[in-house]
Amino acid sequence: MKKILALVMAIMMMVVAAGCGGGNEKSSGSGSAAGGEKKITMGFSQIGAESEWRTANTESVKQAAKDAGIELQFSDAQQKQENQIKAIRSFIAQGVDIIAFVPIVETGWDTVLKEAKDAKIPVIVVDRDVKLADDSLYVAKIGTDSVKEGQNVFKWLDEYMKKNNKTPRAGGDQFQVVVLEGTVGSSVAIRRQEGFKNAMAESADGKKFNILASQTGEFTRQKGQEVMESFLKSDRDKIDVLFAHNDDMALGAIQAIEAAGLQPGKDITIVSIDGVKGIFQAMIDGKANCTVECNPLQGPLLMETAKKILKGEKVEKLVYVDEGIFPADVAEKTLPERKY
Ligand code: AHR
Repeated sequence: MKKILALVMAIMMMVVAAGCGGGNEKSSGSGSAAGGEKKITMGFSQIGAESEWRTANTESVKQAAKDAGIELQFSDAQQKQENQIKAIRSFIAQGVDIIAFVPIVETGWDTVLKEAKDAKIPVIVVDRDVKLADDSLYVAKIGTDSVKEGQNVFKWLDEYMKKNNKTPRAGGDQFQVVVLEGTVGSSVAIRRQEGFKNAMAESADGKKFNILASQTGEFTRQKGQEVMESFLKSDRDKIDVLFAHNDDMALGAIQAIEAAGLQPGKDITIVSIDGVKGIFQAMIDGKANCTVECNPLQGPLLMETAKKILKGEKVEKLVYVDEGIFPADVAEKTLPERKY
């Protein structure tokens, strides 16, 4: 009887040992990072591919995930918030380790982010901002300071007009400004406009500028061109300045300005936001005057932050990436160094 009992115990110990060994193999296999750690899965909802900037942002996130050994579930929302909400719900259903998303618009995220929180999946907001009743629904925000970008646009413009002794084309004592705004309801469009207007209101020179027209060009080259055509149709001989919320819309508008028989960058001063290669080339060609950088290379910081969160380390709630201002006179020297 004793012998049988000892045999049964020995068999049971072997089974337990084999079970433990099997677990270890699994965690260092295909679903694991090197060193036996479980591989992190991140669900990432991108808004689409509306601009040169967005393409660079997507590439940065994809490359950084590869470099960090993070498995990325990438979803393209084709510019629709409802698609982003669907994607986030599917990430929750799949049980990803962490969710990151670029909110196409500021509002409307409370319910789905509460669902992620209830499922204990941490959320990182990328690039744009969200407006929530409860900010604990996301752990961190990584992106850019849109208010500051708008302020920098006005400050540069004010200086430039003074330094170059510019006078309003149609006479009078005010420069007439047209604005191509970004996606309606997006934090970037709202805050860039706010930053620009506030800087104008606070400046001693603010009264020298008048916003003649302001309309969305949806952050795309084509819409930027179309809306600029309509601005020119009504006010061709009045417009002194174009402020475009992104470079792509400025590039579209340049074509409209040339088609209207005017010289972009000379008859109409052009300042935009992003810092993509296309606008650097336009500045070298004398067709644009300044770009205020909005840095899309947010992938490495996103992956680093995700790893910290999942290790239970404390992270900053809000991190802005570095950004510069590039007027036309530095474009030629700077273009070869540009990464996007
Ligand atoms: O959210 C960032 C903005 O979105 C960039 O300025 C623009 O180019 C993009 O599409």
